[in-house]
Amino acid sequence: MVRTTLPICFRSDVIRARQLGCDTAETMGFSRIDRRRIATAISEVTRNILQHSGATGTLNLEVVERDSKYGLLITVEDSGCGIPDTPSLLGDSNSSSVTCLGAGIPSCKRLMDECEIVTAMGQGTLIRMTIWLSKEEQRDHP
Ligand SMILES: Nc1ncnc2c1ncn2[C@@H]1O[C@H](COP(=O)(O)OP(=O)(O)OP(=O)(O)O)[C@@H](O)[C@H]1O
Ligand SMILES: [Mg+2]
Repeated sequence: MVRTTLPICFRSDVIRARQLGCDTAETMGFSRIDRRRIATAISEVTRNILQHSGATGTLNLEVVERDSKYGLLITVEDSGCGIPDTPSLLGDSNSSSVTCLGAGIPSCKRLMDECEIVTAMGQGTLIRMTIWLSKEEQRDHP
């Protein structure tokens, strides 16, 4: 199984992370649209580390398999301040909470098939996102 880790310490690491995500996704057979989704999601969460966490972090990319499907698991972790209000970030049914938020994390939730956040004040944040190859992508790229 392919597994790559990249430190996220500087703005240039965001570009590198985005590129690594694109390259890995291309090797796996993801479509151009999915590659753009992956690049955007990686940019958002790695940029957040530098903008909001007050610490540095890591990006981890892993090819995963479930029920004969292949996917890309993107894990981004930091040891910073934690996200204050995670339920309102992920809950898109509550429109009153959406207005005061940035677009980054909600868009990751839309772009990826799965998005999970584990965070605690003062103890950092872990974001795990998975996108699965479609049947067509998997068929065209066995
Ligand atoms: N890694 C993190 N550590 C601490 N707080 C975070 C982290 N990521 C996000 N946050 C908090 O969650 C909020 C929402 O993040 P989100 O990326 O959705 O929007 P934003 O970064 O504020 O704006 P945008 O991404 O649209 O430029 C941030 O404003 C910040 O308070
Ligand atoms: Mg953001």
